[in-house]
Amino acid sequence: MCGIIAVTGEGASVEILTTGLRRLEYRGYDSAGVVVQTRSDGFARYRAAGGTKSLVALEEEAGRYHGEIISGIGHTRWATHGGPTLFNAHPHFDCLEEIAIVHNGILENFRELKEDLLAVGHVFSSETDTEVIAHLIEAQLPFSRNLAAAVAIVAKRMRGAMAFVVASAGEPGVLVGFKRMAPMVIGTDGKSWFLASDIPAILDRASTFYHIDDEHIVILKPSGAVMCDLDLHEVPLESFSVDWTLESAERSGFDDFMSKEIFEQPGALRDTLAGRMTPDGSLVLDEQPADPDLWARINKVFIVACGTSYHAGMVAKYAIEHWTKIPVELDISSEFRYRDPVVDERTLVVAVSQSGETLDTLAALHEARNLGAQTLAVCNVVGSSMARLADAVLYTRAGPEVGVAATKTHTSQIGALMMLALQLAKVKGQLYPQEVQELYRQLLSLPNKMSEVLELWEEMRALALRYGGRSRFYFIGRHVGYPVALEGALKLKEISYLPAEGYPAGELKHGAIAMLDADAVVFALATRTRLYEKVMSNIEEVRARSSSIVVLGNPGDESVVNADESFVAVPQVHPLFAPIVDVIPLQMFAYHVARGLGNDVDRPRNLAKTVTVE
Ligand code: AGP
Repeated sequence: MCGIIAVTGEGASVEILTTGLRRLEYRGYDSAGVVVQTRSDGFARYRAAGGTKSLVALEEEAGRYHGEIISGIGHTRWATHGGPTLFNAHPHFDCLEEIAIVHNGILENFRELKEDLLAVGHVFSSETDTEVIAHLIEAQLPFSRNLAAAVAIVAKRMRGAMAFVVASAGEPGVLVGFKRMAPMVIGTDGKSWFLASDIPAILDRASTFYHIDDEHIVILKPSGAVMCDLDLHEVPLESFSVDWTLESAERSGFDDFMSKEIFEQPGALRDTLAGRMTPDGSLVLDEQPADPDLWARINKVFIVACGTSYHAGMVAKYAIEHWTKIPVELDISSEFRYRDPVVDERTLVVAVSQSGETLDTLAALHEARNLGAQTLAVCNVVGSSMARLADAVLYTRAGPEVGVAATKTHTSQIGALMMLALQLAKVKGQLYPQEVQELYRQLLSLPNKMSEVLELWEEMRALALRYGGRSRFYFIGRHVGYPVALEGALKLKEISYLPAEGYPAGELKHGAIAMLDADAVVFALATRTRLYEKVMSNIEEVRARSSSIVVLGNPGDESVVNADESFVAVPQVHPLFAPIVDVIPLQMFAYHVARGLGNDVDRPRNLAKTVTVE
């Protein structure tokens, strides 16, 4: 939901801003813009609106600027308040064009604040909530010592989750950032200082990274960075290391990030699993809970997540309940905190999130902590808000995921959650350490199986050609096949925009079967998992309605399809681990259908990779 980049110092350039925006484009691409500042000539602003073409236009326009800049701010937008037009594109100015701002998130009380400003004569040139902040700072600045002091006061009046960066024409080279439940990090190479919504934006520039605490401002100058609370008391900066390489954030010869990330899955899972289990079957977390006896006390697990991460959580529920006998509840994060969840100090609330910044999940994690639960974050971005908030952290080590449609982080999440299930089973005495070790060994063998599945790339392209023109798609599965069905449908919807539904196969007959006709395509998850035979019966029900059938099964089961149907063979693995391999052909099918339709798979319409609004 919008990407922010800012730079000040010796090396500041337009190119740093536009390159950073390119790497943040997955956060939104309704428009793009920069403001650069020289020591003496004030601001120069460049903006472009036009969907995925915005940044190309901006690079051309702003690339012609040759002034010697000292600092700059940049933005790529996912529209919330006001349409995706040029006049709503960031950066925004105050009345006098002396305050420039880029903003990610929502100013919830913008209406009342705007009315106050209009009443005293402020003139607005956009429909955005962001511009209100620029005018608030303009109004406050004459009564404050400097820009930072004005921002601190204004921040106290604002409601909503957000991060923003402002510059003032009166203080060349000074940038002030504010963070509240939205991502933003500091980076430096020693010569320049950066602020960015996400690490890849500055990965090729910064060598040291620092966290920003929520409800804090940061003051960046060419000479360094300072973090303060909203009463302007300085708080020490805490650095963190990043082991992502620049190559991992580039397409590296692939047509797009999504195909690259699909093919990175074996390595991502391997890295996520490596060295995680001690010989006695204990899980090695990235951040241990303060209380080492926590695991023994847990009598309930609650998983909160959104979208694809939620589907990984669904798979985990089957495994945790099977191996540990501990009840597992699962909730869509945006529902969790509005429904009186039954959670106490013996409940482990697990937040699953690629970004670690999804506002709904972050808010659910806050709620869980308020309710006294023990909390664990399973996320991919080191130092993300969820990782910093939770009592314990288990990172997926999938590397940066840029494609909006999550792929490698999904299979890595399932792998991480399987290890959590094994850890709980061991602590609860439900599995012997040797049994945990044997299952861990089977997990470690999965990357090779995934590589075999990747060889289906051309076969899935052929299936996409065969069925891509159909109007409706159904994905059916039972037990762990059900979340795979949901994920297959979500992937297809996200990037092809075709109607697709994931369904528990046994539930079809209770309503959705009425939708089946010869134009529908039904993908059946029929690998040898727990309810294999029942899925076979459900396939017969579909067959009787003359829909096209694609069966995803294990080698040797090819005879379950008729001559006019399709069979996709994936290797057989432990039934609870099957989603890790079974989902890959569905990712590939969605990819090929979307490419066949000419869609931009990395930047699907209306979506943003990290959803930092409620
Ligand atoms: C996945 O393809 C989607 N882009 C989306 O459903 C995503 O999984 C969801 O927004 C949650 O994001 P998170 O994992 O970063 O929390």
